Amino acid sequence: MNKKYIMAGVIGWPIAHSRSPAIHNHWIQQYNLCGAYGQFPVEINNLEMAIQGLKALGLAGCNITIPHKVAAMRHMDWIDPLAQRMGAINTIVVQADGALHGFNNDGFGYIQSLHEAQPSWQANAGPVVILGAGGAARAIVVSLLDAGAEEIRILNRTRDKAEALAQEFGSRITTYEWRERHEALSGCALLVNTTSLGMHGQEALEINLAQLPTSALVSDAIYVPLETPLLAQARKRGNSTVNGLGMLLHQARPAFHAWFGVMPEVTPELRQTIIATL
Ligand code: ATR
Repeated sequence: MNKKYIMAGVIGWPIAHSRSPAIHNHWIQQYNLCGAYGQFPVEINNLEMAIQGLKALGLAGCNITIPHKVAAMRHMDWIDPLAQRMGAINTIVVQADGALHGFNNDGFGYIQSLHEAQPSWQANAGPVVILGAGGAARAIVVSLLDAGAEEIRILNRTRDKAEALAQEFGSRITTYEWRERHEALSGCALLVNTTSLGMHGQEALEINLAQLPTSALVSDAIYVPLETPLLAQARKRGNSTVNGLGMLLHQARPAFHAWFGVMPEVTPELRQTIIATL
């Protein structure tokens, strides 16, 4: 029996750094499927043509990454309500009739990565502190609210952006000045860094963890390096830590399922394959 040849890929600019091809092609092999996942460097001016081309070329869909996650929304025929609330999409699924449906699986990936690191983790275990208020923070805020977080403290260098999230997502969110980040950790159960501080080539996040309970989980959306200075600091004082690799790997699962019909697993082999590329 001939298996159907299925193609998908990732659209972004630049795109060479993307690990998505390595993740999806690993699964295509692992599950003995017939198809391929490519990478498409698409400039902003060409985004609409590229998205319209998905159907013409017969692709099952694609991932959307920087800088197109917001702009791509206007080219969809339908957007999942969760993605609508996150204000961005990271996945397009071409329907049988050619309609383009947009989804955002970043929040799913984030929550899965916490459960993977700490199976007993619960969103309502105590206050959450989120550093940053950009695109990654939005997806994480929405997913934590939906998971049942009761209090989310957002601190961003530009406080207005944190305020805008509080306005949009309601009274479970409070904001603080960026300089208050050391004290804001008091009593918190989860600390999340969504800023670019600590990323390879960037300065480290400066934060005093003295007020953070040692029972708190500390997570960083960054995966290069796998252990940011924040995570190293947290680990040394006894906190459990979660790096950004789990979010990256788990966000890919629902998209792969939608295109290839198999809900794939994040195995130690996959993790090693991707770590080898970092
Ligand atoms: P992403 O999609 O990864 O969230 P982004 O939307 O560009 O990327 O957001 C980057 C985040 O890192 C923002 O919260 C940004 O703060 P501002 O809103 O004030 O720009 C934060 N950030 C970047 N550089 C920073 C720095 N040097 N100090 C503090 N925060 C910083």
